[in-house]
Amino acid sequence: MLVNVSLAVAVAASLLGSAAAAPLVAVKQLVERKVNASPDFNITFSSSHTDGLPRTLIMATGGTIAGSSASATDSTNYRAGSIGVAALVDAVPQLLNVSNIDGMQVSNVDSGSITDDIVLLISKLANKALCGSDPEYDAVVVTHGTETLEETAYTLDATLMCDKTVVVVGAMRPATAISADGPSNLLEAVTTAVSPASHGRGVLVVLNDRICQALYCAKTNANALDTFKAYEQGFVGGPLSTKPFFYYPPSQPTFKTVYDLSNVTSLPRVDVLYSHQMATFDGVNASVANGAKGFIGAGTGAGGISPWAKQNLAYVMSQGIPVVASTKINNGVVAPDEDPAAGSYISSALLNPVKSRRLLQSL
Ligand SMILES: *[C@@H]1O[C@H](CO)[C@@H](O)[C@H](O)[C@H]1NC(C)=O
Ligand SMILES: *[C@@H]1O[C@H](CO)[C@@H](O)[C@H](O)[C@H]1NC(C)=O
Ligand SMILES: *[C@@H]1O[C@H](CO)[C@@H](O)[C@H](O)[C@H]1NC(C)=O
Ligand SMILES: *[C@@H]1O[C@H](CO)[C@@H](O)[C@H](O)[C@H]1NC(C)=O
Repeated sequence: MLVNVSLAVAVAASLLGSAAAAPLVAVKQLVERKVNASPDFNITFSSSHTDGLPRTLIMATGGTIAGSSASATDSTNYRAGSIGVAALVDAVPQLLNVSNIDGMQVSNVDSGSITDDIVLLISKLANKALCGSDPEYDAVVVTHGTETLEETAYTLDATLMCDKTVVVVGAMRPATAISADGPSNLLEAVTTAVSPASHGRGVLVVLNDRICQALYCAKTNANALDTFKAYEQGFVGGPLSTKPFFYYPPSQPTFKTVYDLSNVTSLPRVDVLYSHQMATFDGVNASVANGAKGFIGAGTGAGGISPWAKQNLAYVMSQGIPVVASTKINNGVVAPDEDPAAGSYISSALLNPVKSRRLLQSL
């Protein structure tokens, strides 16, 4: 077995903080706005302009927050991604007292249909919007389906090259539902995104009156409104009367590393395989033949993978394909192997399987 040792060491080191993180630029005050949006962004909606308010770019991708149902009581059968960004903002006129808004429709699909290309585009646009020498915007808000929200939010967190704020927001109930959560989530997301107090905290997930750091945040309930949580690390704050209240000064996760994807045009395919009793992973060769460049094992505990699956992974690892051992528990740590030269898996440390996938793709 020959695992790519330098890659294994780099991943384990970056996950545990011994690698130097990319320098983050100093926090800047809100910049003066320019009236015309740059042609870099395909703006489909611009709010009426109010002098003195910050400027937010909303990138809408679809999801339940933009979903509609024929019935106000139906929160399970509805069409996600059927409402455009202008209608989303129109439903929340209070937004216009908080920020000038430009809206861009990046996609209009449910979370499960979000592609690597969409996520890469959002990352590049967010960097362009916020991190240049004369940035066009003060804040970015991404509206997203909740099922894969943590994947996009984590990717943005790992690739945003400055300390400005990107908030990723969604909703558990479609826009047509009784007590739809989308409008208040969107208002709290924009209010949090434009607040200077949010700078330097990484990408934030704002739903259900809670503010959660993207690196740790995950969906924990398939149906309930209080689904996004960081079990161990907790929330960093919560909106009070829609304005963000933070429990602590800005800080970033201990082992956070930022990757510059500005020259990257596509992400390599990485597959996640779920371990269980008698798991075989006997499709690995087919995955490789179809272009997989890496695998994440969603292990049964601290990276545990069944012996049959291990045998099949051993062959692909012998071909130089990296395999990360993570955990389907979605909580806790898969500690690095003391001796990665022994041809073992790369450890996911604190990242769950889907976030481990994004990190392996971004390296
Ligand atoms: C803007 O729209 C044009 C025409 O549809 C497309 O070619 C281009 O890629 C889009 N750019 C962005 C940043 O979405
Ligand atoms: C916006 O602020 C003004 C001035 O405080 C207030 O009169 C107005 O009702 C607010 N609009 C909304 C939609 O909250
Ligand atoms: C991206 O490409 C440009 C032009 O070739 C180069 O100057 C820059 O260093 C590259 N950035 C990274 C992060 O590789
Ligand atoms: C994968 O291919 C190798 C080489 O042909 C073979 O030895 C191995 O049994 C295959 N594994 C599976 C699970 O098909």
